Amino acid sequence: MKRGLFITIEGPEGAGKTSVIQMLKQGLAEIGQTVTATREPGGISISEQIREVILNKDHTSMDGRTEALLYAAARRQHLVEKIMPALQEGHIVLCDRFIDSSLAYQGYARGLGMKEVYEINQFAIGELMPDLTLLFDVRPEVGLNRIKAHGEREVNRLDLEALSFHEKVREGYLQLAEQFSERISVINAEAEVETVYRESLNRIMAKMNE
Ligand code: TYD
Repeated sequence: MKRGLFITIEGPEGAGKTSVIQMLKQGLAEIGQTVTATREPGGISISEQIREVILNKDHTSMDGRTEALLYAAARRQHLVEKIMPALQEGHIVLCDRFIDSSLAYQGYARGLGMKEVYEINQFAIGELMPDLTLLFDVRPEVGLNRIKAHGEREVNRLDLEALSFHEKVREGYLQLAEQFSERISVINAEAEVETVYRESLNRIMAKMNE
């Protein structure tokens, strides 16, 4: 059976991934496609529990490699339980964050090494790399301002301190886009959400018609 199309959406916080994925889900359904929209950890119980271990504020002693391995483990289970079955059914899978998040955040910004993080993730995902990755590119200060505008809380000292970290995340993502230019398509996510949506839809349609 021909498998569906596996599309991941990447980018920093405040890039608008969540809104655009919902619009894409609807837009693709309107042209007769069956879509599974998901996000890591995807509501998969095992992955959710792994995620709780990663995010637990008491775990201040967590080693960077431990964190990267846990993200990869959660990713594996989500892939097996949700993404693979949907692809086998021929769905278009839209996944909010996947391997490139680990490469940009853990590999590049946290300094574990993109190659090293790629290797453990390759073990986790096997041959199932995305067919297409849309990278929503936005400058960190723009993303941060959006969070500030939409959120209920003030931007705090930590958010501001983290700006250099988010600069690194962006740098990591852009390096990946150069390295995997066949797979990763960069979209200017500073544009209006409708424009980002149209552009994303065009690139997905181009991939479908290949
Ligand atoms: P999440 O609650 O999914 O928010 P977002 O709307 O930004 O996707 O939090 C994801 C956070 O976890 C985000 O800061 C990126 C980070 N992350 C990693 O560092 N590595 C990973 O492999 C993944 C999937 C996420």
